Amino acid sequence: MKTIAVLTSGGDAPGMNAAIRAVVRAGISMGLKVKGVRRGYAGLIEGDIIDMDARSVSDIIQRGGTMLYTARCPEFKTQEGVDKAIASCKAHGIDGIVVIGGDGSFRGARDLSLGGIPCVGVPGTIDNDISSTEYTIGYDTAMNTALEMVDKLRDTCQSHDRCSVVEVMGRRAGYLALQTGIACGAVAILVPEVEFDLQKDVIDKISAIKATGKKHFVVVVAEGVGGVEEIAAKIEEGTGIESRATILGHVQRGGVPSARDRVMASQMGYHAVSLLNKGIGNRVVTFVKSEIGDMDIYEALNMKKPLDVDEYNMATAMSI
Ligand code: ADP
Ligand code: F6P
Repeated sequence: MKTIAVLTSGGDAPGMNAAIRAVVRAGISMGLKVKGVRRGYAGLIEGDIIDMDARSVSDIIQRGGTMLYTARCPEFKTQEGVDKAIASCKAHGIDGIVVIGGDGSFRGARDLSLGGIPCVGVPGTIDNDISSTEYTIGYDTAMNTALEMVDKLRDTCQSHDRCSVVEVMGRRAGYLALQTGIACGAVAILVPEVEFDLQKDVIDKISAIKATGKKHFVVVVAEGVGGVEEIAAKIEEGTGIESRATILGHVQRGGVPSARDRVMASQMGYHAVSLLNKGIGNRVVTFVKSEIGDMDIYEALNMKKPLDVDEYNMATAMSI
C-alpha cells in the first residue's frame, strides 16, 4: 500500500474534519501518500481527487462540516457507478480508501472492497445508528446542540406554562432522541423502537403530573416517529396545556465538534490508516466497551443494534 485516499459520504457530522486530519497526518507519518476525494462517491466517480499534505488539514480540527464536502450518490449504488469509481482509483494510483460516513457509506465501501480496492470505514453520523460500534463521530456534538436548544425551549415553556414537543434527528433510530430526552429531563420520549400509546403514555401522564403542581413540560420525539404538530395539538386538547411543536432539524448537524468527537475522530482515523498500512482492508473501525477496534465489513453490516430498553425504562421511571 503506497497511496491511500480519504472521503466523507452521506450526512455530514461534526468531527468529520478531525477524522480527515487524522487520516492525512497518520498516513504521512506512516510514509504513505494521501489523497482527498471531494463529495464522497460522486467525486470518486468523477475523479474529483486532490493531493493532501500535512498543511492541507491545518486549522480544521475545530470546524464542523467537512472540508472534503459530502454527497449522497445514487449512481454509486449501480454496478456501473462502482466500476467507474474503481477505474478512477486505478487512474489516480489509489491503493486503499478510508470512508468516513454512516452504514450506507459502508455498503459502498463493501462494494469497492469487492471490486479490489481495500476500504476501511470510519463511523461518522450524528444518528449513532451503526450496529457495529457503540459510538459514531458527531453524536456527542449533535446531542449537546439538541440539548442546548431544548434548554432554551424549556425557558420559554416555563414562562408560559406550556408544553414543548421537540423533534430530534436520528433518521429511523431513536438513540439521539433517547439520550437528549434523558439529558433534558423530558416528561416523555417517543422513539421508533418502543411502541407507545399517546393517550396513556403522554397525555394521561402529563395530566397526572400537572395535578401534582408541575406546569411546564418537554416531550422529545425522534424524527423516526415524527408528527410533532399533531402530537402537540393532541396534548393541548387532552391536557388543556398550551403546546408548541419545534423541529430542530439540520442545526444538529453543524457546529464546533466537542472534545469527545475530536478525540474519537483522531483515534478512529489513526486506527483506520494503521489497518490499511498493514495491507488490511474490508474492515470498519469500532468503539466497543471503551476500546477502539475493528471488524469485518460484511459482519458489521449484518449486525443489529437494539435500543437500550433499560435506559428507556429508566428515563420513563424518572419522568414523574
Ligand atoms: P450514510 O452513510 O450516512 O448512512 P446514505 O445512506 O445516504 O448515508 O449513504 C451514503 C452514500 O453511500 C449513498 O449516497 C450511496 O452513494 C452509498 N450507498 C448507500 N447505500 C448503498 C448500498 N446499499 N450499496 C452501495 N452504496 C450505497
Ligand atoms: O443521517 C444524518 C441525518 O441528519 C438524519 O438524522 C436525517 O434523517 C438525515 O440525515 C437528513 O438528511 P438530509 O441532510 O438529506 O436532509
